[in-house]
Amino acid sequence: MMGSAMDPKPETTIVDDPAALADAAARTVVQIATDAVKARRRFTVALAGGITPRTTYERLAASPLREQMPWDQTWVFFGDERGVPPDHPDSNYRMANAALLSKVPIPAAQVARIRGEAEDAEAAAAEYARIMTEVFGSRRGELPSFDLILLGMGIDGHTASLFPGSPVLKEVFRPVAAVHAAAASIPQRFTFTYPLINAAARVMFLVAGGEKAKVVKAVFTEPGAGLPASMVQPTNGRLTWLLDRSAAALLGTSKSR
Ligand code: 6PG
Repeated sequence: MMGSAMDPKPETTIVDDPAALADAAARTVVQIATDAVKARRRFTVALAGGITPRTTYERLAASPLREQMPWDQTWVFFGDERGVPPDHPDSNYRMANAALLSKVPIPAAQVARIRGEAEDAEAAAAEYARIMTEVFGSRRGELPSFDLILLGMGIDGHTASLFPGSPVLKEVFRPVAAVHAAAASIPQRFTFTYPLINAAARVMFLVAGGEKAKVVKAVFTEPGAGLPASMVQPTNGRLTWLLDRSAAALLGTSKSR
């Protein structure tokens, strides 16, 4: 179901700069992973693409966080992917693999890549959803609930590959969709949909940089504008915005960490 307009007071943490954001994000991932493994002996996470999260992934691949993560009980999915092969410079999998996955002892079978190179994009999206429901052991029609979904946000308010005006914003059933995003660098995309994102236990936006300040303000103050990121409203989960000072510059009061 599409999210309702954004909660006027989402949980927000503002840190000094991108390096502090990566530190805070990586530590939060370890905390959520530790709690999930304690409770359910497994941690399921969907990684964000783009540039912002790369430093967070690098922190998780380095000591001391590398040793604190329960890699053996961690399952990694991707919140979206571009329609390219896994070794393509624009592949989200390639970025995460270089920054994190190739450097940590996560069992290969526990990393589920979206086959961006597939000829039949619809079939690849459906296959990804099938793998996901298998890993989660979801019953038919039941949506997997990720322990954590990491998201970024573009200057147009897109998140994952949910772009303004896209028909996929109205998707109410499928958890994963193949989309054509004309405005995107690589138009063929694959994305988690709102039903899946809003079923998560935790959703954390990682947003840094002054170029995002205007859209951050719009998402926080104009819920009716229908920006894709503001339609992320976990049904029962917890939504957190992790911003650096530059991205939060137009929000008025700033709470530093
Ligand atoms: C993608 C991402 C996308 C990203 C935003 C922000 O595949 O492009 O998933 O949603 O999070 O575009 O990207 P930056 O972090 O590079 O600004």
